[in-house]
Amino acid sequence: MSSFVVLGAQWGDEGKGKMTDYLAESADVVVRFQGGNNAGHTVVVGEKEYKLHLIPSGILYKDKLNVIGNGVVVDPEALFTEMDYLKGLGENITPERLIISDRAQVIMPYHKVLDALKEEARGKNDIGTTKKGIGPCYTDKVERCGIRVCDLIKPEVLKEKLQEYLPAKNDLIVKIYGGEALSFDEVFEAYLEYGKRMKPFVDDASVRVFDSIKANKNVLFEGAQGTLLDIDFGSYPYVTSSNTVAGGICTGAGIGPTMIDSAVGIVKGYTTRVGKGPFPTEQENEVGDWIREKGFEYGVTTGRSRRCGWLDLVILKSAARVSGLTSFGVTKIDTLAGLDKIQVCVGYKLDGKVIDYFPASLEDLAKCEPVYEEFDGWDESIKDARKYEDLPENAKIYLRKIEEFTGVRISIISVGPKRDQTMRIADL
Ligand code: GDP
Ligand code: IMO
Ligand code: MG
Repeated sequence: MSSFVVLGAQWGDEGKGKMTDYLAESADVVVRFQGGNNAGHTVVVGEKEYKLHLIPSGILYKDKLNVIGNGVVVDPEALFTEMDYLKGLGENITPERLIISDRAQVIMPYHKVLDALKEEARGKNDIGTTKKGIGPCYTDKVERCGIRVCDLIKPEVLKEKLQEYLPAKNDLIVKIYGGEALSFDEVFEAYLEYGKRMKPFVDDASVRVFDSIKANKNVLFEGAQGTLLDIDFGSYPYVTSSNTVAGGICTGAGIGPTMIDSAVGIVKGYTTRVGKGPFPTEQENEVGDWIREKGFEYGVTTGRSRRCGWLDLVILKSAARVSGLTSFGVTKIDTLAGLDKIQVCVGYKLDGKVIDYFPASLEDLAKCEPVYEEFDGWDESIKDARKYEDLPENAKIYLRKIEEFTGVRISIISVGPKRDQTMRIADL
């Protein structure tokens, strides 16, 4: 038995999709356990590029089981759009390849409407959400007025719950936010159809994952977003509404911590973030612009430009701690080739002291000044490197710094978006 985890160690978009696809080769089951179609995971197979939002990144292998766990929020419209998109690319998604937890929460149209209206009402204090209804759906889950997949597939239950919840949501939309009420008939009809189409894929995902592990299968848990978007450990309130850290796996997939063997934190060779909120090493200058253009840093889900900055080891140390990371998978160091000098943040100066952890308070964070260590860059393109020995000495020094500072070794190095542009250098 072996179960391993791929998690974002920064603010998302670290290359989790690529790394999941790469590692899925040796997995039998790939499981998403949190988030929803706010995620945008890119997988390149041969010359084809796939953009996945809700379906796990193991889907491009025909013989793997992909699981959408109970901790995920499922927008049926987005799910079927993604299935149709995959079908258009030659991938027929059957219940042998994909199952959806009966306990997962369903994103309803009012969640999406409210996400957008609330963002508008926040004005300059908006979070910069993806407007996919993620926050409002998780809010209803916790408030115990969510509609779950097991409800969606039972027409009578769906009708009853929608009759109970929709009037209050319409009041909120119309009276508080000045939006337009949703029609019961339209929502019910659409979701009735979604329920019918989803039914064959619905199962008890916790049982299926548990049984797979017990049957000595390899299970890979694919995180969405990243550590600093975690609802508890991220840059709150500029975060998403789920636990993106390793703790989220147990509650979001329905297995115990003793069943997880290793956790790989995916790290981009620099830092990016989409949406608003603090970003200590952000470079709002020609360096940031250079990284954005060279690394093509534009959001997969919303198309927004990603904010770019230097690698922040304080963040990586925090990520290693809160998720008990056993190794790092480093991506996109190929993007850094051509920089004369590279800065790396090794601490924050706060009120005259240097700290090496990410503070809880936004006010403290705003006062933090990054402390940088400077490294010599490298000019050589490393896109064709296939062994650690192929890397320029300065790239090796840069990578060693990550390991030394965090106390976590690197197991995988990625030098391009394709499957074969990857080096496995140690155990996970
Ligand atoms: P995710 O959300 O963590 O799966 O990451 P995204 O797919 O949003 O963004 C990562 C982007 O970088 C995608 O366009 C990937 O194809 C690309 N990518 C992944 N790894 C590498 C790498 O090592 N080098 C380069 N140049 N691109 C990469
Ligand atoms: P992947 O899985 C990067 C960000 C949004 C916003 C905040 C809250 O591709 O790494 P939400 O819609 O979740 O309520 O938005 O979180 N965000 C992401 N940023 N990558 C993602 O996913 C993200 N998913 C959400 O931009 O700042
Ligand atoms: Mg992404």
